[in-house]
Amino acid sequence: MKTNFLGLKLKNPIIVAAGPWNRDGINIRKGIAAGAGAVITETIVSDALLDVRPRIAYNGTGAQNIRLYSDIQVESWQREMDIAKSKDSIVIASVSAHTPSELAYLAMKMEKFGADAIELSISSPMGESLEVVASNADRVYQMTKEVVENIKIPVMVKLSQNATNISKVAKTVKKAGGSGVSAINTIRCILGVDIETMKPMLPTYGGYSGVPIRPLGLASVATIAQTVDIPLCGIGGIENYKNALEYISLGASAVQIGTSVMLNGFDVITKIVNDLEKWFDENDIKDIKEIRGQALKHLKSFEEIKIEPITCHSDDKECAENCHLCMNSCIYGAITREEGIIKIDKEKCTGCGLCNFICPVKKLRLDW
Ligand SMILES: Cc1cc2nc3c(=O)[nH]c(=O)nc-3n(C[C@H](O)[C@H](O)[C@H](O)COP(=O)(O)O)c2cc1C
Repeated sequence: MKTNFLGLKLKNPIIVAAGPWNRDGINIRKGIAAGAGAVITETIVSDALLDVRPRIAYNGTGAQNIRLYSDIQVESWQREMDIAKSKDSIVIASVSAHTPSELAYLAMKMEKFGADAIELSISSPMGESLEVVASNADRVYQMTKEVVENIKIPVMVKLSQNATNISKVAKTVKKAGGSGVSAINTIRCILGVDIETMKPMLPTYGGYSGVPIRPLGLASVATIAQTVDIPLCGIGGIENYKNALEYISLGASAVQIGTSVMLNGFDVITKIVNDLEKWFDENDIKDIKEIRGQALKHLKSFEEIKIEPITCHSDDKECAENCHLCMNSCIYGAITREEGIIKIDKEKCTGCGLCNFICPVKKLRLDW
């Protein structure tokens, strides 16, 4: 599972994402000990502030955070990096700032403290300004260029799904000399409102993360992979090895995991690394390149899709007891159940495909 990413030799493509689980040297070591190919520090800024309280909410599927970066001053990161770094560890420093020179200053400091690469976190959805930067290709160019010109280690830029043209921003990173991009950062959200108290779950807008953002991360990674030739790191909603493979199949060379570590601890990294290794062995995959981007050939533009006269069919698997899910969800009224047998009216079925995903026993199929 060895992976060459940003010119770094990773023992596997699993990276612990930037966040408070990597808030200091001791925590970074936990990710390394769990088997991660690399670990990214919590984002380091020049005006380290105390955290607001509360700052993290969870609704059972996704999380919202208003955590505002590392509360350790940049100079003190020397000590944390000394603790974090060991012979076989790869530590990427995440830095954020509002101006190119401030960003370059932080990157230079972290290079001096032993970081193997830099991730520019210029796409936070908390506060409006960085979200605006993330969509502005010229600003991203200036920031990336200033950092690249001042350090020798590789620079990866973390992109936002909120950018209207993520490909344009990724192209800009390449033009500025960036070694890669990671996508996606959290997405601006309000997780919910308590209707008894009329209070939102957290007192300001925050970043949405976890399983529900995975489809958005996958789309961003695929879009970049189809349009820009640049090393890519997939992020968003990864909770198991299959999710990591989804990102890799859409063009990612490595992936990052955040919320899943926050909810389950670093053991989730060990499990994903082990499961992925097993999958590589079982499928006789010797190099990640054999699977990287393989799903892209099945991903067409809407205009390329031909309208075929295909309809759904059902096999002879037993239905789940008292299950009516396929019938209830067939908006074309094509599915009936007669004497326990599912019947599909081929005249009424328009081949939408929804029932395939609804059926709990996977009895219904539409081949395309
Ligand atoms: C509590 C929390 C704090 C985070 N802090 C940072 C941060 O300091 N810097 C950063 O670039 N991203 C930060 N993120 C975003 C994650 O690195 C990641 O991009 C995002 O959560 C999506 O991945 P996930 O669904 O695996 O969490 C944070 C996410 C969470 C949930």
